[in-house]
Amino acid sequence: MEWVHKSVLVNEVIDFIDLKSGGVYADMTFGEGGHTEALLKGGAGCVWGSDRDLSAIEQYRKEGTYRQDPRLKLIQCRFTDFKAQAASTQFDGILLDLGVSTRQLTAPPRGFTFQTAGPLDMRMDQSEGPTLKEWLEAVSEEAIADALYWNADLKNSRSLARKIKKAAQEGKLETTQDLATLLGPRTGKAHPATVPFMALRMAINQELEQIQTALPQLLTLLKPHGRLVVITFHSTEDRLVKRMMKTWAGLCICRELVCLCSKTAHVKILTKKPVEPSTEELSHNPRSRSAKLRCIEKLA
Ligand SMILES: C[S@@+](CC[C@H](N)C(=O)[O-])C[C@H]1O[C@@H](n2cnc3c(N)ncnc32)[C@H](O)[C@@H]1O
Repeated sequence: MEWVHKSVLVNEVIDFIDLKSGGVYADMTFGEGGHTEALLKGGAGCVWGSDRDLSAIEQYRKEGTYRQDPRLKLIQCRFTDFKAQAASTQFDGILLDLGVSTRQLTAPPRGFTFQTAGPLDMRMDQSEGPTLKEWLEAVSEEAIADALYWNADLKNSRSLARKIKKAAQEGKLETTQDLATLLGPRTGKAHPATVPFMALRMAINQELEQIQTALPQLLTLLKPHGRLVVITFHSTEDRLVKRMMKTWAGLCICRELVCLCSKTAHVKILTKKPVEPSTEELSHNPRSRSAKLRCIEKLA
């Protein structure tokens, strides 16, 4: 069965980004272009669509609905390279819809899924960095355990890492299904490989590091009153985004008796609680269930 990507929280993105006719926006997780199309349809004057996955950009250039619209500017880059590309452009709104797209997730050759056998790859940008197989063979058991723990809070990270490293050293890990079988079998609703797969994908693509380095840069690209909208899909990602937004809003993020947080506010938080998909959205897109949208506005 072929999955079709359904963009999440589209109406909420348009509301929170405060879409203005003729405004300049950046969709930095272009993916299959769903949010970009909503911005263009809503009257954006210009949308920069960027993604580190060249195949996402190329696919849209071939067959995307707005591919010939002069308001759309498509570029391949990582979050951390975007500022250099944008140069002096200032944006009314920037969107990050984190994680992987359905096309990436469900294409066996990309190695993100264990539903069917594929190579242990997992790179969003297939032109850079080690594949998962190369990484598992090169790094220590401790590095694997750290990736499982820090990216996904996995409590049994050490024992899982031991098992994975041993299998990698013995040459037993060739495909995504080899790895899933090692981590299985499925007993409950979710396959036990689901969370470790996510954590390893995050390590291969350095997802938390990308967010941590890029978000402060993106703040400098916003016009006064410009909005930054971030959609996360799991708790470690969400926690990081929430802490960064709170710091910029001059709120305390420490748990010390004497607070040492800088209390200077550069932004206003517009989502006291994260916005989640409505029951209606959940009914036609169950994959949106863990989405959380947070938004800040840059102060003048
Ligand atoms: C959830 S999908 C976005 C889907 C898109 N909003 C849509 O409606 O079709 C996330 C996309 O962000 C890209 N991405 C993730 N991390 C990135 C990073 N650090 N730099 C650039 N692109 C990234 C992935 O390659 C993927 O295509």
